[in-house]
Amino acid sequence: MSTTDSALSYSRGAIILHWLIALLILGNFIGAWTAEDLPRDAKLVVMGYHKATGIVILLLTLVRIGWRVVYRPPVLLQTLKTWEAALARVAHALFYALMLAVPLAGLGLHSAFSQGKPVSLFGLIDFPALPVGFDKPTIGLFHELHEVTATAMLVLLGLHVAAALKHQFIDRDSTMARMLPFLR
Ligand code: HEM
Ligand code: HEM
Repeated sequence: MSTTDSALSYSRGAIILHWLIALLILGNFIGAWTAEDLPRDAKLVVMGYHKATGIVILLLTLVRIGWRVVYRPPVLLQTLKTWEAALARVAHALFYALMLAVPLAGLGLHSAFSQGKPVSLFGLIDFPALPVGFDKPTIGLFHELHEVTATAMLVLLGLHVAAALKHQFIDRDSTMARMLPFLR
């Protein structure tokens, strides 16, 4: 890879964090949807994994934001139109906001519903609950927030994947290769 190429690619750490977090988020959606139809005991087990994975996503997102501050991402492709570059910046910023907001709202919901119990991270360590009220309106608020932010994340993911595929197969530029260097 030449110097010019590596300047156009995301750092190895940013790439690993992008795909690891993407997989965990996808798993958490599938887990939440699957849990809905399960009997109570199985549901509790799956939701235990859902909560623990969600906290891992929250922590990895903090690492990812820190990583991004230290290792700046490559400048956007010069071939992008002004509106495309602006849309990409807004969408990426919104993604970071939602990667924090979705698990935080979930943690708020858990904290209110379980009356302040910590979240067990796969039986290894406990992650503290948020200091929120335990009343019905608080539970309802965090439930609503968790559902609305998760739905917004799903919509954004649809647009994000559609944009990535458009760049790969219609524009045929190197956007996808910036996140999947083996495509170069
Ligand atoms: C929930 C899953 C995902 C999340 C939260 C996510 C989030 C992000 C974010 C925040 C960025 C901007 C990185 C930065 O500049 O700091 C990014 C870039 C990128 N993502 Fe994703 N992503 C996800 C899934 C995917 C999938 C499934 C694909 C491919 C089909 C994809 C393809 C890309 C590409 C190609 C870039 C680089 C864009 C560029 O060069 O400006 N992402 N993603
Ligand atoms: C990025 C991470 C996360 C994603 C994408 C996610 C997504 C979802 C989705 C799609 C649902 C179903 C919503 C509904 O239809 O009611 C759900 C439910 C739930 N989530 Fe999460 N979640 C995440 C993190 C968390 C965390 C960190 C916690 C708690 C520590 C949590 C706790 C819950 C609970 C308790 C429910 C059940 C709500 C109900 O009873 O309807 N989630 N989550």
